[in-house]
Amino acid sequence: MGKATQDLRKEHEAILHVLQILNKMMEPGSRDAESLLHYYGEVVYFLKIFVDKCHHGKEENFLFKELVNKGVPSEGGPVGVMLQEHAQGRNYIAQMGWNLDEKNIEGFNNAAALYRDLLRQHIEKENNVLFMMADEAINEQEQNLLFEQFEQYEEDVIGSGVHEKLHAMIDTWAEVFGVE
Ligand SMILES: [Fe+2]
Ligand SMILES: [Fe+2]
Repeated sequence: MGKATQDLRKEHEAILHVLQILNKMMEPGSRDAESLLHYYGEVVYFLKIFVDKCHHGKEENFLFKELVNKGVPSEGGPVGVMLQEHAQGRNYIAQMGWNLDEKNIEGFNNAAALYRDLLRQHIEKENNVLFMMADEAINEQEQNLLFEQFEQYEEDVIGSGVHEKLHAMIDTWAEVFGVE
């Protein structure tokens, strides 16, 4: 497994962990409405910054581009499907945001459930299909280069301070909602 795909797989683990916590948050009566809305706000922040900007940004700007360079078709092919799913995910995050503004917990939960289901199957496809293709098509040296670009990108778009803040948020959610 190359360094770049390994980094993205590690981020998938973190994302799946957050989706598991989100699931717990959505259970009826998990918290009173005010506190739940507070945590939902934090989750939307995580999804926007970490999942969409950082993780999907690394995939779209570097890995997918490299795959297309290697001849993997974009439109009508696996890369195109991944891009469509990222766009769909962005839509659901926006819906979650509107519902949050309206303090509409039911509406938020509906959008969040759609997002959760989309992301889980998306990650499974990347782990089991697309990243396998990437490990075949992109050699070790190129993977190392991609990884360096990821590191630089991450520093540029979120920086280490925000990274630590996000980790601390996840630890708090896991404790409050009792997720290992
Ligand atoms: Fe993706
Ligand atoms: Fe991904």
